[in-house]
Amino acid sequence: MFKGKKILLGITGGIAAYKSCYLVREFVKGGASVKVVMTPSATKFVSPLTFSTLSKNSVAADIWSSDQTTQSDIGTRHIDTANWPDVYLIAPASAHTISKLTHGSADTLVSLIALATRVPIVLAPTMDADMYLNEITKANLATLQERGYHVCQPDFGEHASGLSGPGRFPEIESIVKQMETILSGSFRDLQKKRILVTAGPTYEAIDPVRFIGNRSSGKMGFAIANAAAQRGANVTLITGPVHLETPRNVERIDVESAQEMYDAVMAHAKRRDVVIMAAAVSDFMPESPATQKIKKSATGGVPDLKLKKTPDILATLGKKKISGVLAGFALETQHDFENARTKLKEKNLDFIVLNSLQKGRRVFGSDTNVVTILDRKGKTEDLPESSKFDVANRILDKARDLL
Ligand code: CTP
Repeated sequence: MFKGKKILLGITGGIAAYKSCYLVREFVKGGASVKVVMTPSATKFVSPLTFSTLSKNSVAADIWSSDQTTQSDIGTRHIDTANWPDVYLIAPASAHTISKLTHGSADTLVSLIALATRVPIVLAPTMDADMYLNEITKANLATLQERGYHVCQPDFGEHASGLSGPGRFPEIESIVKQMETILSGSFRDLQKKRILVTAGPTYEAIDPVRFIGNRSSGKMGFAIANAAAQRGANVTLITGPVHLETPRNVERIDVESAQEMYDAVMAHAKRRDVVIMAAAVSDFMPESPATQKIKKSATGGVPDLKLKKTPDILATLGKKKISGVLAGFALETQHDFENARTKLKEKNLDFIVLNSLQKGRRVFGSDTNVVTILDRKGKTEDLPESSKFDVANRILDKARDLL
């Protein structure tokens, strides 16, 4: 099940470190090449020699090797190690290391590699129940998940301290299963591909205080950018105003209005292998936004807002054909298939992702999505309700197949 796969295992300080020995055994038994890096505290629980024997590879536990004067590769070892695996699993991941990953600390080989690697990172948070339930740890984990880290949920039960609750090292079987899923969906099949993604809403100024906007959270576009980066692509993400963390290894450009998004997209779309417009671009903007706040007294109660059309970014890209595969989204509340097909054709797209608001389904802000992919050859693919990350991967599969 892990045949030909390269797994890097990071081990941090905690009594559960000994359980990672079984993990190494399972990975090796499954056919994987395994390398282990440890934090200095982890070595207090289990000797590097144990992991070296089980993994059949040398184990690094110190950024600075003791014989650094004789080793010429020491300066780049963290980069070489970071570039080596298909996936980087940190198990057990202590509260301390989770906190360091959240803030970009690089003081141990384990956190340094997390900062340097481009491959998917999987965490198995393991700690005492109170530490796991602490708001700071919860917030750190939420931030890391938003940035694209995978998390194996810890088990519930009795801890070495005698306390009971969540935070126990997950069953070996459940980590192995999750690793299989991540590895099966994380081919480096988009390596060197240049992908442009847009996300979020746009805000069209009425005056310096007010704007016309929409309910887009940006989660779908961010999930596409995140998934593409994990598959090895060079990703640029142009986003309207959202409250989301930038995914790992993604170049982010923030814009506000449809015109700003148009300018940014046109500046970055040239020679992209794939462009996916997931942004909910406003179709209208005030014709002449007021330079000062509009006062009730000055307008006799209600201002007379004159609107004009914003530029259609996707249609312009479809006309200019300056990039490779071009995909858009269609958000419909009625006649969804018909409208999506019309958009596909009129905007000259390779495929369109239909997001239907029919049947009262919640789309905005949700972590899951139900979409249909329609392509220009008339092929239709209904995807079951799944996480936006999974939907993102299916959309990227479609783009890859058309490259
Ligand atoms: N789009 C765009 N520029 C706009 C409006 C939309 O690039 N000014 C893109 C969106 O990013 C999306 C696709 O066009 O990928 C379809 O957007 P949607 O709002 O569903 O359709 P519209 O073309 O705006 O048509 P309507 O609002 O009338 O349904």
